[in-house]
Amino acid sequence: MNKSIILLTCFLIAFLGKSNIVFSQNCKTLLPVPVQVKSLDGNFQLSSNTKIVVPSGNADIREVADLFDGQLASLTGQKLEISNAKTKRSIEFKLNTQANSSLGNEGYSLNVTPQNITISANKPAGLFYGAQTLLQLIPPVKANGPVAVACADITDFPRFGWRGLMLDVSRHFFTKDEVKRFIDQMVKYKYNVFHWHLTDDNGWRIEIKAYPKLTSVGAWSVFRTGRYGGFAPEEEGEPATYGGFYTQDDIREVVKYAADRFVTIVPEIDVPAHSKAVLAAYPEVSCSGKPTTVSAGTNNGIGENVFCVGNEQNFKMLDVIFGELASLFPGEYIHIGGDEANREFWRNCPKCQQRMKEENIKELPDLQSYFTRRIGKIIASKGKKVIGWDEILEGGLAPEASVMSWRGLDGAIAAAAAGHSAVMSPTSFCYLDYLQGEKNIERNSFGYLRAKRVYEFEPVPEGVDPKYILGGQGNVWTEFIPNYRRVEYMTWPRALVLSEILWSPKTERNWDEFVPRMEAQFPRFDQAEVNYATSIYDPEVAMVKTAEGDYRIVFTPEIKGLDIYYTFDCTFPDKFSAKYDGNPIKTPKGSSEIWAITYRDGKPIGCLLVITFDELRTRM
Ligand code: ACM
Ligand code: ZN
Repeated sequence: MNKSIILLTCFLIAFLGKSNIVFSQNCKTLLPVPVQVKSLDGNFQLSSNTKIVVPSGNADIREVADLFDGQLASLTGQKLEISNAKTKRSIEFKLNTQANSSLGNEGYSLNVTPQNITISANKPAGLFYGAQTLLQLIPPVKANGPVAVACADITDFPRFGWRGLMLDVSRHFFTKDEVKRFIDQMVKYKYNVFHWHLTDDNGWRIEIKAYPKLTSVGAWSVFRTGRYGGFAPEEEGEPATYGGFYTQDDIREVVKYAADRFVTIVPEIDVPAHSKAVLAAYPEVSCSGKPTTVSAGTNNGIGENVFCVGNEQNFKMLDVIFGELASLFPGEYIHIGGDEANREFWRNCPKCQQRMKEENIKELPDLQSYFTRRIGKIIASKGKKVIGWDEILEGGLAPEASVMSWRGLDGAIAAAAAGHSAVMSPTSFCYLDYLQGEKNIERNSFGYLRAKRVYEFEPVPEGVDPKYILGGQGNVWTEFIPNYRRVEYMTWPRALVLSEILWSPKTERNWDEFVPRMEAQFPRFDQAEVNYATSIYDPEVAMVKTAEGDYRIVFTPEIKGLDIYYTFDCTFPDKFSAKYDGNPIKTPKGSSEIWAITYRDGKPIGCLLVITFDELRTRM
């Protein structure tokens, strides 16, 4: 219901008299907003006769054109002919004969005139991004006639080179086809890094030939569903049937799929902690050596899940594992995790204590630094660079190692001060597993992060030289995300917000102008059958204590133009109910809950919110 209303209200499609020309999206709906857009008069009429023109003998450009053609077909139902012969009224892809330095490797120019559409760039990646912009000018409707594409002159290039999304496939396993769908969606908004969190306590997801039990045992847990965190404990002898993993052929297939779309995959093997799945497969890896099981979310973060640092064999094992990983992923970085190690297991372990003695290590954090340095050497020996969560910075790092700052901005600030580059992924702006709307509706997660708050993210911390900030990424942890539809719901639309932060100039930042750009993507999600949250239509609800000492209720809408109606008598509110006027509402005697709903232009658009005063008091 909501989505069809959005479709009607946001969608700029018109029909010309009796003809069936479909008019294009307005340039104002482009997201991320380009560096420079000049709207021009007139239209280019895209029809089934339009040809895509590419230079002969350039397989890379041909591949970009093929991808564009496939995307266009998904959007409009029309597949166009690709030709080497220049014709009138075509869509031409061409590389600049002389590099345009302001465009870099990923920038492009897109020129739409009534005669032609031209995308030019220094590199094929730029052509691909120009094509993504062009696709956003074309309405997501199955056209049975020409589409009029608004004339425009666009010049565009990214602010950051690392524009990433992370997907945790350990807490819940997502198939290679789902991963491809995730990548399909990312590239429409010009993301170029897919950080693949492949291992954790809940499952090891990548085939390692030398250690088959990592997947035959480590990829499987007992099955639990319901509310995460409250699962019934595992039973003695209960079969581990839930999970899955990628074969090395699967990995190669996804790597190629991503590379074809200019996405680099950064694989993560999270060590020394978050390794319960390894310990289930090879118990000798831990300090205690005790048999254990892959976590089904029944005891997450509790119990032994760290590698023993005193066991030399563990470094040999990790050398082999990272060696196989490096041979599968062509990107320059390997992510080694490094977060949230419970070092207490090392305190009571004779082997770890012996290591500390031999290496003259006094404190447990320094033992983790020792571990990180050894892993760093292993990664370097495979010709790769290390990146890890900001804990890896504690104790010193190889100069070429990079830090992923997740515990706020401090990790990046410290990294830059020590001469390391950083990727910004602070929980406060980038954790897409956090709830984005009314907590009563979205229910459980570790935190709360509204789209509007994400839009306030500035990846370069004050006082830090921007040269150290590679970019940023959104993280989709999946403890609370048991299926792929929910992955999509949590990712979109907040990943739209981040895409603009990471691609567009800071000077273009304007939430009120961003909102219609974001809403213009909703019909595209609908057409592509991508799930997304409409939480922006639900206000935040809070209870405040007034100066007079009484408690009142305040609504804070995330976007402008919403009307909020409410009741206290446990009946469904509608536009005939009391309307919120912006002033804190006095709660009537006897009432214990408020029900509310938002409308726009006289039509319901938000969810029905039912919130008790007890709940609101806990938020105060
Ligand atoms: C993390 O969220 N533990 C990196
Ligand atoms: Zn140990």
